[in-house]
Amino acid sequence: MKEYLNEKRILVDLVIKEYLDELRYPEVIAEGMKYSVLNGGKRLRPILLLMTLDLLGIQEKKGLPMSVAIELIHSYSLVHDDLPALDNDDYRRGKFSTHKKFGEPEAILIGDALLTHAFNLITRENLEPSKIVELIKLTSDYAGLNGMIGGQMVDIESEKKEIDLPTLQYIHTHKTGKLLMLPVECACIIAGEELEKKEVLKKYAELIGLAFQIKDDILDIEGTFEEIGKPIGSDKELLKSTYPSIFGMERTKEILYEKIEEAKKIMFNTFGDNARWHIKLADYIGNRKK
Ligand code: IPE
Ligand code: IPE
Ligand code: MG
Ligand code: MG
Ligand code: MG
Repeated sequence: MKEYLNEKRILVDLVIKEYLDELRYPEVIAEGMKYSVLNGGKRLRPILLLMTLDLLGIQEKKGLPMSVAIELIHSYSLVHDDLPALDNDDYRRGKFSTHKKFGEPEAILIGDALLTHAFNLITRENLEPSKIVELIKLTSDYAGLNGMIGGQMVDIESEKKEIDLPTLQYIHTHKTGKLLMLPVECACIIAGEELEKKEVLKKYAELIGLAFQIKDDILDIEGTFEEIGKPIGSDKELLKSTYPSIFGMERTKEILYEKIEEAKKIMFNTFGDNARWHIKLADYIGNRKK
């Protein structure tokens, strides 16, 4: 799995560089965009899109602009998430977070530029216009208030207070889950896949999306700065509502395991051995150290 992920990450990084190299002026925004994206992310979202296209029998290169667009949106969400007004974190991916490196007003604009540029990249997909419209519609939905922004807002509102399980699930499935469902659903749009297979893939993405954030909460407690590249204990300091804060660590790990196993099971039941990379990715998400 490690080699597979590395190989895909190298491909994705090359394409990201190619697209971002077009950007020039104002230099601080162009440089800030490059800094915030090309700083060693795992590229799981683009990889998930390429992997799903492959599963559906479509060449990966068909989804490259879209996969980079999603990584730009993910990176923008991190730039803004780290701002003093939100999580106030000074490090990201082992380096200074964007506002520490470029200043706060600049970081806000760099984030905005990443988000808007993502939509420019989607238009570069070599697809029928109706599919491009569908990709844009879904992306705006999952990145916006019905998705990541909605989750981020409730995350912030839920600091320093007790929340119920549906609220915690809403936070996780929206702030993180939607941007992990996006690549899978975009692959279905590109491949023209509807109905049964799409429903299974959506469910898989929903489960690994939730699992991904549960693991992120665990790593915020048990991880090391060297590995995760961001400050440990950030959630506790801000009195965030997380799986460990509500369920305790032992039960949190059981829930994580249950989600991962269910994700693997539904993929195997529908796709058999063809789903091997999706199954391995689910395990990777459960076991990751960074
Ligand atoms: C971090 O995402 C933020 C969350 C949604 C939990 P990743 O762990 O995918 O971050 P990078 O892109 O690899 O840095
Ligand atoms: C991040 O959640 C979700 C985003 C939309 C960026 P966190 O706030 O837990 O992510 P990290 O731990 O800072 O990466
Ligand atoms: Mg946050
Ligand atoms: Mg954060
Ligand atoms: Mg976190």
